Amino acid sequence: MAANCTLSVAVLSGKGGVGKTNISLNLACALRQAGFNILLVDCDLGLANLDVLLGITPQGNLQDALLGKIPLREALYPVEPDGFDVLPAASGVPELSEMKTETRDVLLSRLEPLLGHYDYVFMDTGAGISGTVQTFAAMAAARIVVITPEPTSLTDGYALVKVLHGRYNLRDFLVLVNQTASAREARSVYDKLAGACRHFLHLEPVFLGHVRQDKKVTEAVCRQEPLLRYAPGCPAARDIQALAADLQRARLGMADMLSGRKILRNLQD
Ligand SMILES: Nc1ncnc2c1ncn2[C@@H]1O[C@H](COP(=O)(O)OP(=O)(O)OP(=O)(O)O)[C@@H](O)[C@H]1O
Ligand SMILES: [Mg+2]
Repeated sequence: MAANCTLSVAVLSGKGGVGKTNISLNLACALRQAGFNILLVDCDLGLANLDVLLGITPQGNLQDALLGKIPLREALYPVEPDGFDVLPAASGVPELSEMKTETRDVLLSRLEPLLGHYDYVFMDTGAGISGTVQTFAAMAAARIVVITPEPTSLTDGYALVKVLHGRYNLRDFLVLVNQTASAREARSVYDKLAGACRHFLHLEPVFLGHVRQDKKVTEAVCRQEPLLRYAPGCPAARDIQALAADLQRARLGMADMLSGRKILRNLQD
């Protein structure tokens, strides 16, 4: 693979609470276990909670760095024993939950130089279609839209794709169905979203895979440990390992596209 092949991935959903943070966190674990260097960025600037899921108390965060209080590098938090880095965000700071253009430019100029060291940069976004979510979605090289079998998750997921397509002309979306009973159910949920995207937006999202409903996920959350550390052999953990392998195949397929480009797209380019 060419040298500069960092893949930035925004993890998105229309509806909240569908599992974005758990999926970002555990994909980070799975890919780290496979030997890759991973950065996980908490892009939920209003209601950050990666730190809570990890049971860590970072000294600095993304907002501190954006406000110039600390260098961004100092906000990076190495998660042990898993071995990936987190860029945490502060919670309950409303002034930064809507990102202004100047803030976005500061973020890009400070973040981009740190990213070349990583194979993957996961951006765990907040729910919905706020300007900030759209910005992160459009900056990333790849977008995972997380949906569940609930009809509201499907309609909100479609709304998100529609908005991103309309505003940024984005056409490439990876769909992940979480909290599903089976692979078969996941496919049929994906088919509904894909059908609407095809019919109304003339684009074809790609099915990335599924994660089964599994009570071990909630247990891991309550213990403030990543699922892949807490219960690596459980069904949801095995699904995430399979997803990580699929994502790595997708990254290899994108190597030419990624090579030599900026890792995060400057939306003014
Ligand atoms: N595969 C799963 N099986 C069982 N429960 C799950 C699964 N995925 C997520 N959950 C449950 O859903 C809850 C919400 O997950 P998570 O915080 O990752 O969602 P989110 O999309 O990041 O939410 P928000 O939109 O608020 O950021 C978890 O605390 C867990 O209880
Ligand atoms: Mg979340």
